[in-house]
Amino acid sequence: MLSYWYEVEVRALLGPFFNRVWPLGLSAKRGRQPLANSLPLPPPILEPNRAGRTNELKALVLKEPGQAEIRAVADPVGSPRSVLLKVRMVGFCGSDLNSFRGRNPLVSFPRIPGHEVSATIVEGSHLNPALSAGADVTLSPYSSCGTCAACSRGRPNACQFNETLGVQRDGAATEYIVVPSERIYPANLTLKELCLVEPLTVGFHAVARGRVTAEDTVAILGCGGVGLGVVAACGFRGAKTIGVDMDDEKLNTARAAGAAHSINTAKEDLHQRLDELTDGRGPDVVIEAIGLPQTFRAAVEEVAFTGRVVYIGYAKEAVAYETRLFVQKELDILGSRNALPEDFRDVIRMLEEHRFPVNDAISSIVTMNEAPQALAAWSANPSRVKKIMMRMD
Ligand SMILES: NC(=O)c1ccc[n+]([C@@H]2O[C@H](COP(=O)([O-])OP(=O)(O)OC[C@H]3O[C@@H](n4cnc5c(N)ncnc54)[C@H](O)[C@@H]3O)[C@@H](O)[C@H]2O)c1
Ligand SMILES: [Zn+2]
Ligand SMILES: [Zn+2]
Repeated sequence: MLSYWYEVEVRALLGPFFNRVWPLGLSAKRGRQPLANSLPLPPPILEPNRAGRTNELKALVLKEPGQAEIRAVADPVGSPRSVLLKVRMVGFCGSDLNSFRGRNPLVSFPRIPGHEVSATIVEGSHLNPALSAGADVTLSPYSSCGTCAACSRGRPNACQFNETLGVQRDGAATEYIVVPSERIYPANLTLKELCLVEPLTVGFHAVARGRVTAEDTVAILGCGGVGLGVVAACGFRGAKTIGVDMDDEKLNTARAAGAAHSINTAKEDLHQRLDELTDGRGPDVVIEAIGLPQTFRAAVEEVAFTGRVVYIGYAKEAVAYETRLFVQKELDILGSRNALPEDFRDVIRMLEEHRFPVNDAISSIVTMNEAPQALAAWSANPSRVKKIMMRMD
């Protein structure tokens, strides 16, 4: 209830911005009311439109916590500043799993997930000739208001009123979507690679926040989907990286992505191993990509004097700190959220240079019909899955 009124109020205040940044076609409340809610899908009842599409699309919908299904939804509506995309693949990460389980306070049900996307342009933009029909692209799933404190400082990735596709608004797990042209990134990549761009940008942004250079040794706490992007970004900048996780398979993937060393904290003592690897100084930068109180604390405990700590993980409970360490070590402690256009461009460049083990980062690729079952199986056994991708054709 609270969040509903919050949204109404924000929309009332910022209506022109919402419509400017995300056109009507992506609004769950206005453009895409579900038409049916159970399988099997009804046959198309409307004639194909101008672009050869029917006016009713299939979408993966999170119906309620723990339940996803395929539904028919209305065709999205475009605007002159937007581009019509045929969705080709959608990736699911830890945040989607949280949404599926009903543990993301920003997600209300029903919700179409999907913020990691590869797509093909169906109708290009009049404003940008580079975005022409037939081009394979990825996109930034974030929105920004343009006027809040973060936007005014040129940091729209942390916009106070951000709405991410698949989180606060319906996402890309459907056949066609309409997206503002400035959020689209064409690239010379495969559909699988395009779908990996967004999850990798989160780590690239954190590494930029930590001002990582080739002189640095960086410890990455958590080598899941997000931590893997941190490892790759550190490698891209020539830094020495130490991957830390409790799962050998995640650490193997981190090694394949460029980690020089790995520490399995289920078997090894973190402090002792970091001491050995850094001649007793501690890492210059520690980047937390898990979200637990103990790893939040470990970051400030293990980092070198005058080092930098970057937090990506969202802790789900309050964290108690020995704040003396902040002062005594004179630390830079930074948060990192989402990503900027330059992070998208850097990730695309890295993937175009084939510097990332794409296949190692993906656990399975499923069809849309298989996706509800795949999400349920992931929820039942979260540690066994790295990334699930859903292909749309
Ligand atoms: N700041 C942002 O913009 C942003 C964006 C996406 C995700 N996140 C957050 O980043 C965090 C990581 O997301 P993810 O998708 O990579 O999750 P994930 O579940 O894929 O990865 C977490 C990793 O941490 C490891 N791990 C768990 N407990 C550990 C422990 N005690 N010690 C060492 N390793 C441990 C797991 O084995 C796993 O490999 C989450 O908190 C998520 O909410 C933040
Ligand atoms: Zn994601
Ligand atoms: Zn803003």
